[in-house]
Amino acid sequence: MNNNQFDAFFKPYSKNVDNANKHGFWKLSDALITQIINDNIPTNISKNSIILDAGGGTGRWVCNLSSIYKSDFIIYDKSKDMINQAVKNINNSGIVNRVKVIHGDLKNMMELKDESIDYIISIYSPISFIYKKEKAFTELFRILKKGGKIIIMGHGFYNALGSKINNYCAGNEELKKLDNKKIVKWGEHVPELNVFAKETMEDDLKNAHFLINRTYGVPVFAQPGPEDFDKENSKKSRISSALEKNSFFKKVFELEMKYNSKPEIANRGMNIFTVATKI
Ligand SMILES: C[S@@+](CC[C@H](N)C(=O)[O-])C[C@H]1O[C@@H](n2cnc3c(N)ncnc32)[C@H](O)[C@@H]1O
Repeated sequence: MNNNQFDAFFKPYSKNVDNANKHGFWKLSDALITQIINDNIPTNISKNSIILDAGGGTGRWVCNLSSIYKSDFIIYDKSKDMINQAVKNINNSGIVNRVKVIHGDLKNMMELKDESIDYIISIYSPISFIYKKEKAFTELFRILKKGGKIIIMGHGFYNALGSKINNYCAGNEELKKLDNKKIVKWGEHVPELNVFAKETMEDDLKNAHFLINRTYGVPVFAQPGPEDFDKENSKKSRISSALEKNSFFKKVFELEMKYNSKPEIANRGMNIFTVATKI
């Protein structure tokens, strides 16, 4: 994917992503991610800590997390359109003094010093968009302080295989490429994306010298309907409608959290979300 394709994909995306979680499936997914972050980054970290959102996009996670964590934040992202939206969202949330926004590539984070960051989060799979991903893992390790944690998400490999077989009846060549190269293409205008099994995400982190704490699948049981990928967020899937019922939402959330980090279940995840430490 060249820079023009990258910009063409994220320009419209930056306009819609902040409304995505108005539907049940994405609300559930966001609630699970928030819970996993809270379970792994103590909510009482000091005001002087820095949480970096790697591929932080429009800053929606930083805006939400700023009411839970007293720390400062950095949003680091390669898309100008996403960054422009982040600046607006941060202004609207009244957190300008606590957030630095950096336009740059995770493969070369030259603006950031070695061991300068306390925690890194990376949500909805920026690493899936990076073809020389080992460079990004090395950079994320470099900037993290000793004892610091990273929580990083990539698209799930086994879920991609299941979806390509069941929802797309994909051809043999496509399935072979996905299986051998761990690369998926969801649509004509969607860039090719790296997919991860629990084991490959953990290996990538270990190769960059991180110590693995735990891997979650997000979500492991709830499956989106095709309507959940509607660009304008105007269509609603059966699962998203059902999740509007509070008791169903609560039960599904509870079951997801009960099983999502079990080693034999995590690979069901639409996304693979791994927590690791720099020791
Ligand atoms: C699917 S979006 C997720 C955005 C945000 N984390 C969220 O959850 O809303 C992926 C993000 O990764 C960013 N990204 C992709 N490749 C990148 C790279 N090499 N360096 C920095 N950011 C990158 C994109 O610009 C985009 O904002």
